[in-house]
Amino acid sequence: MCGIVGYVGTEQATPILLEGLSRLEYRGYDSAGVAVYSRQQEALRVYKAKGRLRVLSDMLQGGAAADGTTGIGHTRWATHGAPSDVNSHPQVSHSGKIAVVHNGIIENYAELKEFLLSEGVPFTSETDTEVVAQLIAYFYEGEHLSLLEAVGRTLLRLEGAYALGILCADAPDKLIAVRKDSPLILGYGEGCSFLASDVTAILRYTREVGYMDDGEVAVLTRDGIACYNYLMQPIEKEIIHIDWEIDAAEKGGYEHFMFKEIMEQPEALRRCIFPRVRDGAVYFEDFHLSDDYICALKKICIIACGSSYHVGVVGKYHLERMTRIPVEVALASEFRYMDPIVDSSTLVVVISQSGETLDTMAALREAKRLGAHVLSIVNVVGSSIARESDQVLYTWAGPEIAVATTKGYSTQLAVVNLLGVYFARVLGTMTAQACVDLLEEMLLLPGKMEQVLAHPEDIQYWASQYFNHDSVFYIGRNVDYALGLEASLKLKEISYVHSEAYASGELKHGTISLVEDGTLVVALGTYGRLFEKAMSNVVEVKARGADVLALTTESRAAEMAKTATAVLTIPDTHELVLPSLGVVPMQLFAYYVALMRGCDIDKPRNLAKSVTVE
Ligand code: AGP
Repeated sequence: MCGIVGYVGTEQATPILLEGLSRLEYRGYDSAGVAVYSRQQEALRVYKAKGRLRVLSDMLQGGAAADGTTGIGHTRWATHGAPSDVNSHPQVSHSGKIAVVHNGIIENYAELKEFLLSEGVPFTSETDTEVVAQLIAYFYEGEHLSLLEAVGRTLLRLEGAYALGILCADAPDKLIAVRKDSPLILGYGEGCSFLASDVTAILRYTREVGYMDDGEVAVLTRDGIACYNYLMQPIEKEIIHIDWEIDAAEKGGYEHFMFKEIMEQPEALRRCIFPRVRDGAVYFEDFHLSDDYICALKKICIIACGSSYHVGVVGKYHLERMTRIPVEVALASEFRYMDPIVDSSTLVVVISQSGETLDTMAALREAKRLGAHVLSIVNVVGSSIARESDQVLYTWAGPEIAVATTKGYSTQLAVVNLLGVYFARVLGTMTAQACVDLLEEMLLLPGKMEQVLAHPEDIQYWASQYFNHDSVFYIGRNVDYALGLEASLKLKEISYVHSEAYASGELKHGTISLVEDGTLVVALGTYGRLFEKAMSNVVEVKARGADVLALTTESRAAEMAKTATAVLTIPDTHELVLPSLGVVPMQLFAYYVALMRGCDIDKPRNLAKSVTVE
């Protein structure tokens, strides 16, 4: 969702900005733009275009057409005002002196706009961001404050979430960066400095980064970066070295990031699981929940959005079974407004791949306000959620670029299981042998997943049979229902096929009326204890004319084949590992359906990788 990049140095800025923006394309956007200071013309030059970055890049001849060594760039995901050239960022003050790129939402923009209009300031766009540029100019040019003071005065008036990159024609050797509730990082280069919403945008140029905290302001020059807290007092920023390779964020010969990331899952799981399992026990790095605290817990509350929420739904089944502690799962967007019953005897587990989802962050803060201890399961190291949590467990999946999460989901699930074993050992709710059995299967998971991934053509074939269906139902019980939620989301978000997931037992309470000749039902029947029930539901929908694509384990495939139209299989494994394996054929099915329907798989319409607005 919206991307920001900024550069100040001695090189031509525009090619660096375009390169950086191309690395942010995965976040989702509908228009792009850059502003650079041109020494020849002694003015800001702004270039913006609706549509793909390629349109902007062509306009700028890959960067050659815009001269200047200081600049800011942006990919916009429209919130206020339709996607258009004029609404794209950078937004510029009417004097043409102040250019601003912005991620987030200025909640009181209407009121501020009214004030500025009453002061005679003309507006050109419908965006909330233009208000920021105009307000800085109002204080800078109208009240003759210094640029930094004008920014500071503006911030006092802004309500909402924002990451800002600011360029002023009168100060062409500096950029100003501001962060509140929307991520922004600083990059320290040799004779240059960067700002970006995501480390991937600048990794090609520097590996030394600083994470801005809420309320902080930074002034970037080619000689370094000065940081200030919300009181404008100078602060020291910790510089962190990023050690993952840029190749990890490239396609590496695959047609789509999503397919690459599906294929990377076994390796990601090895990184996530193996270092944490020793001698039949789980060891977490830097873990500080005491045994006494765990034993005194009354409740676990899992909070997340989207696929991370679906991990939470599996987590409820798994953690309750392993720990016998009651587990609630809440959508983050609901939790923050539902007057939740959470206190210091509740462990809140926040799950987020990006670590930047605004709803999840808001729920985390609400949980902390209520006195809960917050443990987060996060992929992106140093992300906002990771930094605000009391305790973080990283998933170590590596950079995930495709909007549809795959390795993010499977590694989150692995961490939930490891957490369950850890707690169960402390609580005595699983025997030592039961823990060993589960952990042994978790160590076998990457290899078994490789077996599933070795034959994507089977799933591709069935996708080719069904990709034209307009509607698909996923049914299952217990963890198969939880798996259905994720399978259904995967399909709808990338292929635009309507799909729903139902707990199979609910069919007869209404949904079965939708089943008719040729309806596609994906029946998830991996959970051994309820296999007979799953079979009955297959019979039920078949009797009403449905085509049933079933998923089960190898040992039950023959039985399932007696009824289902087609059967996909996964290797047999421990019950608590089944969803981790079962999700893979579902990811591939969604991928192939989207491919056959000609969809933009890595960047589905209207979606963003990290949802940093409410
Ligand atoms: C998953 O495929 C989705 N794109 C989306 O539901 C995602 O899981 C959700 O936005 C939560 O993101 P997070 O894990 O980064 O917080």
